[in-house]
Amino acid sequence: MILVTGGAGYIGSHTVVELLNSGNDVIIVDNLCNSSKDIISKIKMITNKSFIFKNFDLSNREQVFNTLLRYPIKGIIHFAAHKAVGESISDPEKYYQNNICSLLNVIALGEKLNVENFIFSSSATVYGIPKESPIPETHPIINSNSPYGTTKIMGEKIISDIALISKTNYCLLRYFNPIGAHHSGLIGDNPNGIPNNIMPYITRVAVGNLKKLYIFGNDYPTEDGTCIRDYIHVVDLAKGHVKALQSNTKSKPSVYNLGTGNGVSVLQLITTFEKVNNIKISYKFTDRRDGDVTSMYANANLALRDLNWKAELNLADMLESSWNFQKNIKNE
Ligand code: NAD
Ligand code: UFG
Repeated sequence: MILVTGGAGYIGSHTVVELLNSGNDVIIVDNLCNSSKDIISKIKMITNKSFIFKNFDLSNREQVFNTLLRYPIKGIIHFAAHKAVGESISDPEKYYQNNICSLLNVIALGEKLNVENFIFSSSATVYGIPKESPIPETHPIINSNSPYGTTKIMGEKIISDIALISKTNYCLLRYFNPIGAHHSGLIGDNPNGIPNNIMPYITRVAVGNLKKLYIFGNDYPTEDGTCIRDYIHVVDLAKGHVKALQSNTKSKPSVYNLGTGNGVSVLQLITTFEKVNNIKISYKFTDRRDGDVTSMYANANLALRDLNWKAELNLADMLESSWNFQKNIKNE
């Protein structure tokens, strides 16, 4: 049985689908602070499989132990965390409390249960302002530009110390920019309020909920002046977790970038969205956003070598599925 914390969230829900479809038993723990109960029934609709769902806060250690120690959990994928960069700057305590306390509790649970594998959701944000792209896993990790990013660096450090003295295979997965949605259109990225990330912002402009997209800066030293990112389909990302659960490398912990290795600018993202979905996106250039880096994309060779994983879906797949999901939720 695999414990998926934050399994009702964006990446977690897609990963649960892949886990169930590849024959795993799953238990989800999510307090729904950034998701909703109907995701649980949607995962059931997609997979036609049953699983356990528990709704509670993982930062409560007593509840973690009382509820979960009785299950035959062999692997843990720990997604649960707050993730809004801006909010983490205005309310850092909320981020350290939730992200660090939950992580420590889930690690303690895993150690008590002697789980075989433990996967931690890390982020390309740990590379700060990268010295080079494509970025290899060996790139130095020095500082982060937000408390959110610091919780990922701290999480990696905590796990690195514990992995040295543990029998569990710990794995740190550093995601680049997940976008896209399941092809059913039933699950996807549906943040509360005005989206911080570009993809849900674009689809809400497309559907008419927001007037126009504000592009943060067109004076970056890139070909078209806009920032470059490595957008990866969330279904590819989810499959990377299933592969990582099956692997058993000697590294303590093992660390992998999950990205496509392709850099795409904000303007390229918009024009490709317009082309594949045959819809116009109204946009306006505005000032740079604090903390944005010019360009970052992954060197994902290590995941290919060790996990036999590589991203299969292209940018058109990502943008079509994001739009398909947005149209679907509008009709709900
Ligand atoms: P998400 O907010 O959609 O999912 C996180 C889930 O965890 C939510 O359903 C939320 O309700 C739950 N949760 C949060 N705190 C909890 C707690 N204390 N107890 C129980 N449940 C709790 O986010 P996501 O985009 O799916 O991200 C998943 C993970 O991947 C996070 O750790 C995030 O930091 C990391 N990550 C995300 C991105 C991205 O761009 N989406 C990039 C890099 C890393
Ligand atoms: N952007 C806009 N307008 C918007 C939103 C974003 O122009 O309304 C631009 C940003 O300036 C950036 C690009 O679109 O150049 C991507 O921005 P996102 O906010 O979608 O993503 P980030 O690269 O800033 O950060 C994301 C996650 C972080 C994670 C990081 C690396 O939000 O949590 O990817 O994985 F750490």
